[in-house]
Amino acid sequence: MTPNTLTLTRPDDWHIHLRDGEAMQAIVGHTARQFARAIIMPNLKPPVTTVALAQAYRGRIEQALSACGISKTSFTPLMTLYLTDNTEPDEIKRAGETEDVVALKLYPAGATTNSDAGVTDLLGKCSKVLEMMQRVGMPLLMHGEVTDPETDVFDREALFIDRVMIPLRKSFPELKVVFEHLTTKDGVDYVREAAGPIAATITAQHLLYNRNEIFKGGIRPHFYCLPILKREVHRQALVEAATSDSPRFFLGSDSAPHAKGLKENACGCAGCYTAVHALELYATAFERANKIERLEAFASFRGPDFYGLPRNKGVITLTREPYVVPLEVPYGSETLVPLAAGETLPWRMV
Ligand code: DOR
Ligand code: ZN
Repeated sequence: MTPNTLTLTRPDDWHIHLRDGEAMQAIVGHTARQFARAIIMPNLKPPVTTVALAQAYRGRIEQALSACGISKTSFTPLMTLYLTDNTEPDEIKRAGETEDVVALKLYPAGATTNSDAGVTDLLGKCSKVLEMMQRVGMPLLMHGEVTDPETDVFDREALFIDRVMIPLRKSFPELKVVFEHLTTKDGVDYVREAAGPIAATITAQHLLYNRNEIFKGGIRPHFYCLPILKREVHRQALVEAATSDSPRFFLGSDSAPHAKGLKENACGCAGCYTAVHALELYATAFERANKIERLEAFASFRGPDFYGLPRNKGVITLTREPYVVPLEVPYGSETLVPLAAGETLPWRMV
């Protein structure tokens, strides 16, 4: 018999987009309500490329939290820097000397939202920085897709493994790497077997849906994110990995808000909004796999263990009661449509 309540050590979200300004103010409470800590993506405009910019951004996040009545002690933003072709090794040294920056994020130039300032040639342009990261123990969080326009959008992650990931890890075997928002069986097989310090985050949408979801009855922009949803065989491999006892797979929602009008658009933005109901979505995926008892390791243990941070104290509770996903949530002067809007999920966070 499956239980009707589930008590978990407070979980963390190891990949989130909080944006800035009034957009951030509208959504930061969603993440802080569900998670104790979150890794904050640096793809703002302009991007967060220095320790000073990350400290200033963290200050704005703390202000936004306090404006929602959330205390500094109940939620901790973990800041990242955006790697560019011009990042200086000294900046990495500075980052390593403070506790204010926990990782660097690789966006291959042109891969996704606000990636124009990203890296054009990782080993060619960033080898001194990578060496310094390896030396100071700073993890590299990788958006793992090749970007050449000839490559089919569904093949970009698998090709990234051969073209970038394997050569990178051969040159920098001690560099800590997180393969972000993994979407393929190729990625799962690589991360599970590879030598050295590597892990991967997995989103709720990639556990719950395959690529048919984007086209069911018409084009459905709220299921469009990058890396894009893949075939069923890949979804099954991700579910198997997330619910396995491998320590290398953990929760990273990649919740990425875009106003409704920018999603329901002739050229809709990439990103699924899952921060308001992340744990409800993940619990649904784990329950469908008959592995709900594995959710705590995925959501609360393996992330901090990989990052070398303490596991959280305190607990949250999920209860088996229907949760209807809101059709829209406020987003400054606009609204957002959450993933699975209007659907009923079997678990709700208390
Ligand atoms: O779908 C996505 N949206 N993928 C990313 O990598 C970026 C994100 C965003 O910032 O909107
Ligand atoms: Zn992301």
